[in-house]
Formats: sequence, structure tokens, C-alpha cells
Amino acid sequence: SLPERITLVEVGPRDGLQNEKQPVSTAHKAQLVGLLQQAGLREIEVTSFVSPKWVPQMADNAAVMAAIERKPGVRYSVLTPNMQGLEAALACQPDEVVVFGAASEAFSQKNINCSIAQSIERFAPVVRAARDQGLKVRAALSCAVACPYEGDIHPDRVDWVAQALADIGVQHLGVADTIGVGTPRRVQAAMQRALKHFPLHEVSGHFHDTYGQALTNVYACLELGVHTFDASVGGLGGCPYARGATGNVATEDIVFMLNGLGLHTRVDLDRLVDAAAFIAQALGREVLSRVGRATLAK
Ligand code: HMG
Ligand code: MG
Repeated sequence: SLPERITLVEVGPRDGLQNEKQPVSTAHKAQLVGLLQQAGLREIEVTSFVSPKWVPQMADNAAVMAAIERKPGVRYSVLTPNMQGLEAALACQPDEVVVFGAASEAFSQKNINCSIAQSIERFAPVVRAARDQGLKVRAALSCAVACPYEGDIHPDRVDWVAQALADIGVQHLGVADTIGVGTPRRVQAAMQRALKHFPLHEVSGHFHDTYGQALTNVYACLELGVHTFDASVGGLGGCPYARGATGNVATEDIVFMLNGLGLHTRVDLDRLVDAAAFIAQALGREVLSRVGRATLAK
């Protein structure tokens, strides 16, 4: 049987916007976070504390954190790749921080400018310091199925990086299909390796929808009992270091499927579509998600 309670981590404000070329105002970003929490999302990835030279769209990280109106019961997370990022993040009082590594050497180099082994060394003090502050620490594991530079990634690679992340005190692992080429059995194989090192309630799926497989991969993970998924409102996004990759699975598409399965997210679909419409309009484009478009057309 499938898990009954599902947690959705809304990554639209971060993963969804980080690759956006046009400027998006701090006020619009904060307003998006507001609409998402009004729709009932309780975990929101707000921004990243990364180099503004690498990812200019996230340069207003501290301003966004200051501008959001925090709602009790909502957890706000931010990406922190190194101590410099963590220090800047701590000043903004996130509830959770996210380190991000990869199962692919080439992607690690392109994304965070170091090898996998070096990344673990860099993350260790970040994890320690964050946990000393009482913050939860999550890790994202990119290229858990395939890499834009190396091609297919063997599940053994997921195994050892997951182990290394667990060893340094990471509490939760997000298994990411960065380029969205994963199909259900391959995604399950990667997830099963992650589950050797993290319990069911501390793994999540992060599936980009580039090849239209994301929702199916969510379902495949539900079959394993996984009940936490990242999703991006309106299907926004992509990674600056994975060319051509599209956004995460759209939050409204997941919510629609889960509602149909009788699984509870406590997310209000109409309000979620309002949030998708808001950010699409701010970006001057159409809502990309299927459920978003269908709902707005009614
Ligand atoms: P680096 O160049 O190796 O760092 O970058 P460095 O320590 O050598 O410092 C070089 C310069 O960067 C210095 O500035 C530092 O101050 C600055 P300069 O003296 O030249 O003016 N710097 C920073 N500035 C602000 N915040 C920081 C920071 N650290 C150094 N935290 C670094 C290493 C990781 C910082 C860099 O490679 C970087 O910022 N990469 C961005 C990666 C990124 O944001 N990628 C997208 C998010 S991950 C993702 O999307 C995947 C995910 O969704 C899962 C999936 O789908 O796969 C999570
Ligand atoms: Mg991503």
C-alpha cells in the first residue's frame, strides 16, 4: 500500500527561479513564497547562498529572506554549499539548510567547482555548524541516475556518496534526477541505494521533468514507501549547470495525482494554481504545468 501522508517540498522559488535570465524582483520572489504558504505548502526552499557570479538570480538571497512573511508551521530552507554560504544564511535564520553534492565527478566540478571527495570535506563543517545551531540539514544528490556530462550513473555511485553524506551528519537525502532522463525502475534502483543509508522518512525524490518522466518517477517512489517529494510550482526551473534541463515536476501536477490516489498533502489546488499564474505573469509567460493550464482554461 502507498504511504498516506505526503510531504511536498516546494522548490520553485529556488530551483524554479535560479536559472531565470530576466531579473525577478525581490518583492515578486517574496510574494511567491507568500502565495505558496497560503496554498498550504509547509516546506519551502526559498533561495541559495551561492556565489552571485555563478548564479546571479539568487544574489538577493538575504533580501528575499528578510522580505518573506513567515507563517508558523512552515519550514524555510536555503542552499548552503560552503561555510561562506552557511554564515550568510545563518544571519537570515532559515529552519533548514541544504548542501548539494553529486554522484557524478564531472557535474560536481561544473556545479560546485570541486571533486566529490572535496565536496564532502567542504560540507562536513557546514553540517556540523548548522546542526550545532539546531538546524536541520538536508543534502541534495544530483545526477543520481544520469549526468549531462558523463551519461548514465551506476547506482553504486549513489550508494557511496549517500554513505559519505550520512557519515558527516546529513539528516536527509534528496535523490535528484537532474536532467530528467530517469525512468521508474532506474529511479527506484537509485532510491533503494539511498535507503541503505537514510530511513524512509528522511529521503525524498527530486525529479526534473525534461523527458516527461517525473510524475511516473514520483509514483515509482511511492511504491517504495517514499513520501517526500520536491516540486516546483508551475513546473518552473532548471539547473544552470545542466543545459536544456527543464523544471522539476510541477507541484500542481503532483497534488492532482495524489488527490486522485486519496493521499493527503493539505495543499489547496486552486490556490496553488493561483501561485503558478502569479509567477508566470511576473515572468511574462504561460503556466507550463498541465494541471495549471487545464485549471486556468476552465
Ligand atoms: P568557488 O569559486 O570554488 O569558491 O565556488 P571559492 O571559495 O574559491 O570563492 C571564489 C569566489 O566566490 C570568492 O569571491 C568568494 O567570496 C565567492 P571573489 O573573492 O572572487 O569575489 N564565494 C561566495 N559568494 C557568495 N556565497 C558563497 C560563496 N562561496 C564563495 N557561498 C561555489 C564554489 C560553490 C561557491 C560556486 O561554485 C557556486 O556558487 N556554485 C553555484 C552552484 C549552484 O548554485 N548551482 C545550482 C544549485 S544546485 C541544483 O540546482 C541541483 C539541485 O536542484 C538538485 C538537482 O536537480 O540535481 C539541488
Ligand atoms: Mg534541481
